[in-house]
Amino acid sequence: MLASRLVMAPMTRMFSPKGIPGKNVAQYYSKRAENGIGLIITEGTAINHPAAVMSPDIPRFYGEEALNGWANVVNEVHQAGGKIIPQLWHVGAARKAGSEPNIDAPTVSPSGLTLRGQRNEKIKALTKEEVAEMIDAYAEAAANAKRIGFDGIELHGAHGYLIDQFFWELTNKRTDDYGGDLGERTKFAADIVRACRKEIGPDFPIVFRYSQWKGTDYQAKLAKNSNELEQLLTPLVEAGVDIF
Ligand SMILES: Cc1cc2nc3c(=O)[nH]c(=O)nc-3n(C[C@H](O)[C@H](O)[C@H](O)COP(=O)(O)O)c2cc1C
Repeated sequence: MLASRLVMAPMTRMFSPKGIPGKNVAQYYSKRAENGIGLIITEGTAINHPAAVMSPDIPRFYGEEALNGWANVVNEVHQAGGKIIPQLWHVGAARKAGSEPNIDAPTVSPSGLTLRGQRNEKIKALTKEEVAEMIDAYAEAAANAKRIGFDGIELHGAHGYLIDQFFWELTNKRTDDYGGDLGERTKFAADIVRACRKEIGPDFPIVFRYSQWKGTDYQAKLAKNSNELEQLLTPLVEAGVDIF
């Protein structure tokens, strides 16, 4: 039960030096709960992959120190009467190569393409093995979210970031079973949802954010009509999404 119908949208803040959400982060979110937000969706927080984000000030969702920081955020929000879920994030090709915190980690995307669909030698196409590891990293984050007391998870599948790069035909030219037509391009997201569901059980809410537009293209449309939207979303519902 939420204290109100107000849901706070995820907003990247970059106030977590070395990826650790500190006391000020807990205070920022608990203030929102105190003032009537029913459900807080946190800023995007990095799954356990070296190229997940492009700033050392974006909070991580792995490692003891960062997870302890998040546990404190959860406690304070709960004490203020709110509910809170983390937004699990990997930016894929939206990361400039050489970005901190892991400057040597190659930027990765479904087909090694930029968000304009161009080849770029600094972006690496994920191998099938790496795709499997990435799915595991989302599932590990989901399990940790539940373990430290969050009220659910949100998967960031929107705005042209990694999961969305798999959905989008401009950035996904894969010829294995993670590429193909619109329905086939949902496999990465559906596998992530299934893997998360397996970790967290049937009753822990999974929210999935998707969008037609991309940060680099406001005219983009993943689904051109309601039939295509059905093709996009049905596999995700079947995999275990509760809320879009
Ligand atoms: C500073 C800022 C940071 C944002 N960071 C994220 C983010 O981490 N994850 C996300 O899904 N959306 C992010 N967004 C998008 C917001 O969640 C929201 O969709 C956007 O502000 C539009 O909301 P509105 O239509 O209510 O104005 C961000 C927006 C702003 C202004």
